[in-house]
Amino acid sequence: MTVLYNPHAPADAHLIAKYDGRAPRYTSYPTAVQFNPDVNEAVYRAWLADLPVTTPVSVYLHIPFCARLCWYCGCNTRAVSRHEPVRDYVALLMTELSTLEQALPGKMAVGDIHLGGGTPNMLSVEELATIFGGLRHVFNVAPDAEIAAELDPAVLSRDWIRAAAYHGLSRASLGVQNLAPEVQNAVNRQEKFEDIAECVQTLRSAGVSSVNLDLMYGLPHQTTRNTLATLDTVLTLRPERLALFGYAHVPWMKAHQQLIDEAALPGPAERLEQSQAAAERLKAEGYVQIGLDHFALPDDTLAKAAAAGTLHRNFQGYTTDAAGTLLGLGASAIGTTPGGYVQNITQELGWRHAVADGKLPIARGVAVTDEDRFRADIIERLMCDFAVDLAAACDRHGRSLADLHDALARLHDFREDGLATWDGRMLQVTPRGRMLVRSICALFDAYLAPDAQRHAKAI
Ligand SMILES: C[S@@+](CC[C@H](N)C(=O)[O-])C[C@H]1O[C@@H](n2cnc3c(N)ncnc32)[C@H](O)[C@@H]1O
Ligand code: SF4
Repeated sequence: MTVLYNPHAPADAHLIAKYDGRAPRYTSYPTAVQFNPDVNEAVYRAWLADLPVTTPVSVYLHIPFCARLCWYCGCNTRAVSRHEPVRDYVALLMTELSTLEQALPGKMAVGDIHLGGGTPNMLSVEELATIFGGLRHVFNVAPDAEIAAELDPAVLSRDWIRAAAYHGLSRASLGVQNLAPEVQNAVNRQEKFEDIAECVQTLRSAGVSSVNLDLMYGLPHQTTRNTLATLDTVLTLRPERLALFGYAHVPWMKAHQQLIDEAALPGPAERLEQSQAAAERLKAEGYVQIGLDHFALPDDTLAKAAAAGTLHRNFQGYTTDAAGTLLGLGASAIGTTPGGYVQNITQELGWRHAVADGKLPIARGVAVTDEDRFRADIIERLMCDFAVDLAAACDRHGRSLADLHDALARLHDFREDGLATWDGRMLQVTPRGRMLVRSICALFDAYLAPDAQRHAKAI
């Protein structure tokens, strides 16, 4: 067969259009679409009681408040102008923590704490102290624990940074997105580079050793030119990590995204060009590409984990966190135990009522079967390494390649198009296929019926 393509060049728009079904982001397998109400508080309590008390766990706290509502936002959050809702929420978060404490088999070690949102820097410094005091009371927080927070530079004060550093903040992630005024105006998020730079400097001088900046592509009025201009500016800060997220436009799920002028959204070919140009620039600047959408300096722990094949993927994206248990607190928080996934009630009001009633506020989840673990292992390796030794994965799970017959048969087209190679043992995603890795993972997703689900575009 004549090879008409260069397997080292990225996929072109034609291939993206051919394969870009709406594939899940695979931050878990089974994905959140499989979560169901059969997994309730009683199931979760049984899973918690079964946890080996000596194995460290991770903790995620969701803070669903912001100072502003960015129109592209896909997070579970709301803008507040008064502090009372935040104060009341923190009080209930402490109630939820003590209910969780009673359900755990003992005082467990914690190596990773993640404050996500929303905007955790909406918490006052007193509330930060309450939260960290509560966590240190319930868990043995390791002295070298990785403590991370997602922060909005527009409302990040020096006092907040100092207080968080005092409580052990080691990693901060700041939202930037795009610095062009026409993009910022089109998404209701104005922010000046000088303010971001000041936040980064203050974080570093407070001892927060790792800074991540979130950038996006595919926003209204975004162009390759203003994407690269944004990169040139933020790279002067030499952040340890950068994330480059493709705007997921899901107005049927996030009503405020309807405020975005769809006519101003870049099309698939432009999105592809923006993401590829940004990736090339980052690599030329010495950053290592991690999985689909993260970049890190080579001596960063994320880059080292990627090189060692020990990278993981969870609800926060790519991570070095290898703990098999993640305890989620707060409205909509997702947790993982060896038994399966759970998600708290998403609506803040429902979450408040359940917590006030002394419940663990579980809304849904999914029990994980051995079949799921087998497929989750394959999908995680593909998402993290762009390659998976399927023979080794079969050995790990006591399975045979014959069990993957259907997926391998459907791989045929991807191989023909130069997106993947298969030598009877290793499935490798080619550089050309990287952007379509979600669609390759979908081949191994036993739950995915064609057209049955709606996800954001894979690119
Ligand atoms: C919790 S926010 C970051 C912290 C803080 N709230 C801020 O905005 O600066 C999480 C990140 O998710 C990304 N994000 C939000 N909505 C998105 C969407 N619809 N599609 C893709 N990425 C999105 C943005 O890059 C954003 O910085
Ligand atoms: S992007 Fe950040 S600040 Fe903006 S609405 Fe979403 S969570 Fe809030």
